[in-house]
Amino acid sequence: MSKVKFAVIGAGLIGPRHARTVAADPDAELVAIVDPMPGGAKLASELSTAHYKSIADLVASPDKPDAAIICTPNHTHVPVATELSDAGINILIEKPFSTDIPSGKNLLEHLGKTGVTALVGHHRRFNPYMVAAKKIVDSGKIGTIIAINGIWTLYKPDDYFQPPTEWRQSSTGGVILINMIHEVDLLHYLLGPILTVHAEKAISRRGFVAEEGAALTFRFKSGVVGTFVIADNVPSPYNFESGTGENPTIPKTGADFYRIFGTEAALSVPDMSIWSHEGVKTWLSPFKKETYPVQDAVPFELQVRHFIKAIRGQEKPNCTAQAGLAALMVCEAIRTALDNNSTETLEPYEL
Ligand SMILES: NC(=O)c1ccc[n+]([C@@H]2O[C@H](COP(=O)([O-])OP(=O)(O)OC[C@H]3O[C@@H](n4cnc5c(N)ncnc54)[C@H](O)[C@@H]3O)[C@@H](O)[C@H]2O)c1
Ligand SMILES: *[C@@H]1O[C@H](CO)[C@@H](O)[C@H](O)[C@H]1NC(C)=O
Ligand SMILES: *[C@@H]1O[C@H](CO)[C@@H](O)[C@H](O)[C@H]1NC(C)=O
Ligand SMILES: *[C@@H]1O[C@H](CO)[C@@H](O)[C@H](O)[C@H]1NC(C)=O
Ligand SMILES: *[C@@H]1O[C@H](CO)[C@@H](O)[C@H](O)[C@H]1NC(C)=O
Repeated sequence: MSKVKFAVIGAGLIGPRHARTVAADPDAELVAIVDPMPGGAKLASELSTAHYKSIADLVASPDKPDAAIICTPNHTHVPVATELSDAGINILIEKPFSTDIPSGKNLLEHLGKTGVTALVGHHRRFNPYMVAAKKIVDSGKIGTIIAINGIWTLYKPDDYFQPPTEWRQSSTGGVILINMIHEVDLLHYLLGPILTVHAEKAISRRGFVAEEGAALTFRFKSGVVGTFVIADNVPSPYNFESGTGENPTIPKTGADFYRIFGTEAALSVPDMSIWSHEGVKTWLSPFKKETYPVQDAVPFELQVRHFIKAIRGQEKPNCTAQAGLAALMVCEAIRTALDNNSTETLEPYEL
């Protein structure tokens, strides 16, 4: 089978990482980098590939790719994805899918018309611990899922909120849109669509508009119920980054951040302990603890490999455009619930 030709759009912080991943994949060929800034030309020359200053130039060139990875600033995702998909180019859009729901809905509809394969880069789905958790949940090993309890708590330093990123003090810089969106995508991945959310806002310590934390409850379409505590103003080892060690700048603790309860057993992530009763299923029986094996892997590499398979029709797209938009819709519902002390019901959606 011929290699899938890739362009990487945007050569800032994350673009180069995707470009190197593509360059190293045996089924992919990196044909171009698109970025009007000098970093684009520099990265292209380093990786011995073509450089274009705009998508229009790329599309008109002999290097028109089969696929593109969109690594441009958030507010450009919708126009960039529209332009690429109009040219019949399959796309992997870095998260967030869009910065607002109406433009996200328009893009979703547009992508449907163009028929390209579109994925959203919520790469935590490809984290080895999450791959294992998904396998356990889907296998029936812990029975029918009844409930989930999640935690994302840590302490962000003061300079995180200072220039040039003082926008993080604003209403769009709080933990819901920045951090909870990843958790919502993982909840979607493990347990499917969410029907209702309720939120209680945590006490703020910094005095900014951005929310610092909340206690949340969820009801999923499947009937599963969930609770979640999120906060960025408390020193704590209980969060995805510390637990998995995925982000090299955040020390790994291995501490558990999800507990998933089934009719047969309880699973905790990322230690992947499966607790069940020996013999008769009753609280009086002793516990047996199994540890599910986790295969080491680099999420970005798995994500590109999956994108190639999705383009070739060999795998069902994992984190579709619908799922990217749905994560944003759930986060907006959480924000409304927080501000209004309300329970929000979502319009039904597919993933
Ligand atoms: N999945 C992850 O872990 C992860 C991590 C970091 C960033 N991201 C996402 O990736 C995206 C990019 O983040 P970043 O930190 O690399 O941003 P960045 O600002 O460092 O880089 C963006 C680059 O895009 C270029 N650009 C802007 N408009 C363009 C256009 N129309 N065509 C081509 N190039 C254009 C800019 O010149 C810049 O070099 C964001 O949406 C962010 O949310 C995801
Ligand atoms: C948008 O992109 C930046 C990277 O430049 C990221 O840190 C931030 O979380 C994103 N903003 C939102 C609101 O998702
Ligand atoms: C998504 O990808 C993960 C990781 O490779 C895999 O375990 C899972 O089964 C995939 N899901 C779908 C719906 O393809
Ligand atoms: C709170 O509720 C009102 C009325 O339903 C709504 O207009 C407003 O947008 C809500 N607040 C937020 C932050 O969504
Ligand atoms: C929600 O509750 C808080 C704390 O009790 C209160 O200050 C706030 O006014 C309430 N908001 C609404 C919209 O009722």
